[in-house]
Amino acid sequence: MPDRKVERATQMTPGTTVLATRRLLLRHFVPDDLEPLYALYRDPEMRQFYPDGTLNRDETKKELEWFMNGHPDHPRLGLWATIDRRAGAFIGRCGLLPWQIDAQPEVEVACMIAKSHWGQGLATEAACAIARHAQDALGLRRLLCVITPGNAASEALARKIGMTFERVYTDEFGPCSLFSMTLPPPSGLLGDVASMPEP
Ligand SMILES: CC(C)(COP(=O)(O)OP(=O)(O)OC[C@H]1O[C@@H](n2cnc3c(N)ncnc32)[C@H](O)[C@@H]1OP(=O)(O)O)[C@@H](O)C(=O)NCCC(=O)NCCS
Repeated sequence: MPDRKVERATQMTPGTTVLATRRLLLRHFVPDDLEPLYALYRDPEMRQFYPDGTLNRDETKKELEWFMNGHPDHPRLGLWATIDRRAGAFIGRCGLLPWQIDAQPEVEVACMIAKSHWGQGLATEAACAIARHAQDALGLRRLLCVITPGNAASEALARKIGMTFERVYTDEFGPCSLFSMTLPPPSGLLGDVASMPEP
């Protein structure tokens, strides 16, 4: 039987839905996300492993606007508001970010969940769904996480979704660990066609 509370919260949520899991909805940002997003970004504990540290309200607004319709250069990627479906509440932002690493295009799985919701498996739920979406809907064959030394939660999350340590990468902010995973080809029709023998 459909869960009325879940249905109601989902319908009330503005913004384009990118994907949904049992407990979460990931959708494009809307202007009303500014305050809950800023509450995450101004928190030094939340931002301790980000090279740019905490953000002020204007910086947060710029980031929100940058991602409002997906990443401007890669609209099917971006950071998405992460909504607790049952409560209809904003509890983080997760998504896929494009990078150039050693001149190679790469896509990172990025997650941030509000502290009040840590330790409930929500980042794992979001990241697994994001990886499936990357594989099936976007046809990506590789994903990575760029992890600042000491971010044990991020490392645990990367391992949990099937990534392994690849190498240390040093950018302008210093060394970080690259965790990566290879994705199989999409499981739908294209995969079947690709595996058919030539006539
Ligand atoms: C990383 C983050 C998203 C994890 O969110 P979460 O919803 O608490 O994660 P989950 O509950 O799905 O847990 C995932 C795994 O990480 C482990 N973990 C969570 N916090 C941890 C910590 N502080 N130290 C070590 N492991 C930790 C969990 O135990 C779990 O592994 P397990 O199931 O084998 O025990 C969250 O800590 C966060 O938002 N951190 C700040 C932002 C950030 O640094 N993001 C990463 C950069 S992309």
